[in-house]
Amino acid sequence: MRASGTGPGDIAPDGSAVEFYAALPPDTASAALVHAAIPDGASILELGAGTGRVTHPLLDLGHPVVAVDDSAAMLARIEGARTVRSRIEDLALPETFDAVLLMSFLIGYGDRRVLLDACRRHLAPSGHVIVQRESPEMFATAAPSTWERDGVRYRMHDVSRPEPGILSAAIEYRMGDRTWTHRFTSRHLGDEELPAVLAASGLRLDRYLDEARGWILASPL
Ligand SMILES: C[S@@+](CC[C@H](N)C(=O)[O-])C[C@H]1O[C@@H](n2cnc3c(N)ncnc32)[C@H](O)[C@@H]1O
Repeated sequence: MRASGTGPGDIAPDGSAVEFYAALPPDTASAALVHAAIPDGASILELGAGTGRVTHPLLDLGHPVVAVDDSAAMLARIEGARTVRSRIEDLALPETFDAVLLMSFLIGYGDRRVLLDACRRHLAPSGHVIVQRESPEMFATAAPSTWERDGVRYRMHDVSRPEPGILSAAIEYRMGDRTWTHRFTSRHLGDEELPAVLAASGLRLDRYLDEARGWILASPL
């Protein structure tokens, strides 16, 4: 799926703006949700870690984290975790982890089989994969809109559904006098296909971690 981005500072290959993510507050809510789903002190492999918005609160919660991203400029903002610059698809670390995280809706942007295979091959036998997808409602209702959060003004526009299960959109982020844009195309991972998609990568659905069913907990088959 194609993605691109514009704006001040470095732009990662997937279109994400380094300065934008570096300026956002830590994502303590996502870290708390992950922490509650895995054992205390569980080792974590975080795929697509960016500037460490979730990494840093996970470290604070007592988890050793290895942070992976294919943008060196993103990883340079992470402190306290080992960082690995790699495409998720190509990752082949010698060790396995108690938890592997594939968040930020990345499952919708790439080859889901290849992404989930990368999760599975780094998973300890009793470990868990946590995937954050666009929830069914989020996917169905995405429409041109504006909203504000954490001092950022968001504008979603150019929303289209070129075929069933595919969503294309552009999002503008305004922070003070800085503006970034991000265009993406996402393929929805539907409830009905989830068991087969997970099984193809040697995984099974344990449960959803949230009411909206955006967060998936999976275990080895
Ligand atoms: C939208 S940002 C989110 C970063 C972080 N998870 C957060 O919540 O702040 C997505 C990140 O994933 C990285 N990324 C996207 N696709 C990737 C891939 N296939 N392999 C490695 N990194 C990827 C990008 O470089 C970017 O840093």
